[in-house]
Amino acid sequence: MNQKIYNIMKSTKKISWAEPYRMKMVELLKMTTKAQRVKAIKEAGYNTFLLKSEDVYIDLLTDSGTNAMSDRQWSGMFMGDEAYAGSRSFYNMEKSVQEIYGYKHVIPTHQGRGAENILSKILIKKGDIIPGNMYFTTTRLHQELAGGKFEDIIIDEAHDPNNEHPFKGNVDLKKLDAIVKKHGASKIPYVSIATNVNLAGGQPISMANLRELHSYCTKNKIRIIHDMTRVAENAYFIQQREKGFDKKSIAQIVKEICSYTDGATMSAKKDALVNIGGFLATNEMDTYEKARNLVVVYEGMPTYGGLAGRDMEAIAIGIRESVDDHHQHARVGQVEYLGNKMIEFGIPIVKPIGGHGIFVDAKAFLPHLTQDEFPAQTLAAEIYIESGVRTMERGIVSAGRKSNGQNYYPKLELVRFTIPRRVYTQAHMDVIAESTYEVYKRRSKIKGMKMVYEPQYLRFFQARFEKL
Ligand code: F0G
Repeated sequence: MNQKIYNIMKSTKKISWAEPYRMKMVELLKMTTKAQRVKAIKEAGYNTFLLKSEDVYIDLLTDSGTNAMSDRQWSGMFMGDEAYAGSRSFYNMEKSVQEIYGYKHVIPTHQGRGAENILSKILIKKGDIIPGNMYFTTTRLHQELAGGKFEDIIIDEAHDPNNEHPFKGNVDLKKLDAIVKKHGASKIPYVSIATNVNLAGGQPISMANLRELHSYCTKNKIRIIHDMTRVAENAYFIQQREKGFDKKSIAQIVKEICSYTDGATMSAKKDALVNIGGFLATNEMDTYEKARNLVVVYEGMPTYGGLAGRDMEAIAIGIRESVDDHHQHARVGQVEYLGNKMIEFGIPIVKPIGGHGIFVDAKAFLPHLTQDEFPAQTLAAEIYIESGVRTMERGIVSAGRKSNGQNYYPKLELVRFTIPRRVYTQAHMDVIAESTYEVYKRRSKIKGMKMVYEPQYLRFFQARFEKL
């Protein structure tokens, strides 16, 4: 579509979120019966992570690595340079990161947590404090393993599923200032900022908040490290909601966001439209030098970092596709379509509707269960049984235990319906909303669960449950 017509239609809100692509290959799915699903989820210990993907109809476990690549990305894979050192594909990826995000130095890693591991080891000392706008599971674990302690500085509104604040990913600068005053800036190696905060429900941080944070941190000589996993989705919300940004492109907004930070970790499996990969980026020579040293221990040479040349080639192209305005309009538009259907059915979801998925409020859905009876874990299992839709718990199981062994009790007890990019259709969205409504109608009869196996790290991946 002509850009001018598109802009006019967008400004009058007439344009549909219809996809700027068409399909030329499809993946056939196995259709299961309810009896088969009851058996499958029981065998999986009522943990959707332990289901066989074959037994799943619509897979909303995650938007991570589940994207459909474009014809250009697939062509790029054939052009991948598989040299052990100095691969051309690395330089293509480095160029995309430098041009689109503006970071100076780039180290590839096998995925986001590979970058988190290296960065945490370089920057965090025992006893350090890392303030951040809500935790993410792997990010916080690497900070803790390096001897640090995470402190949540997100605004209070983020913990309230019904609060419609347009930028629930914002930092509360008063909370940050209190931490700086208490511990001193020297104990804070960096402030950890995620764009489109995953566990808050895919909620954005505003440019105004980032600018304030940047000036505060510059004054106090504290770095900002950016978890940029979903930065382009955050940019879309800034374009739609923040004053002064409606005429700016996603690409311009993404570049500005990154400019307020000193470095980044990236899981390319989300925004960047690939199935595997990530990187660490920094503007600091010293951090870059240390990262080049460590990456060979944990990932591989600094010009491949655990990735094949073809993976880096696909990332190089995916990064550029991710900042296309039409792409993000369709991407977030599809998520909003599903969210609005859920709202029409009266299903309690986190509002505003987020960027990468719908987060159903399990405490409100199953008010008769206590948090120790795992409402979100229970609901995810019931939704699978109903229709073969696989979702994920984001509540007490994901939050894990503190270093003293006690459970974290997160305020948010959610089931995440994460939408892979460019994979499912509008009819799939209808099935998801309709079948969740079927579960909603019989909600009062649903019983909770008990945990019967708990792994030491990131327990949500492999824990097993039984029905009460
Ligand atoms: N940061 C955020 C905000 C994430 O959402 C993830 C992964 C990571 C870091 C780690 O990246 O998986 O490439 O090692 N999130 C996935 C999810 C697992 O389903 O939300 P990774």
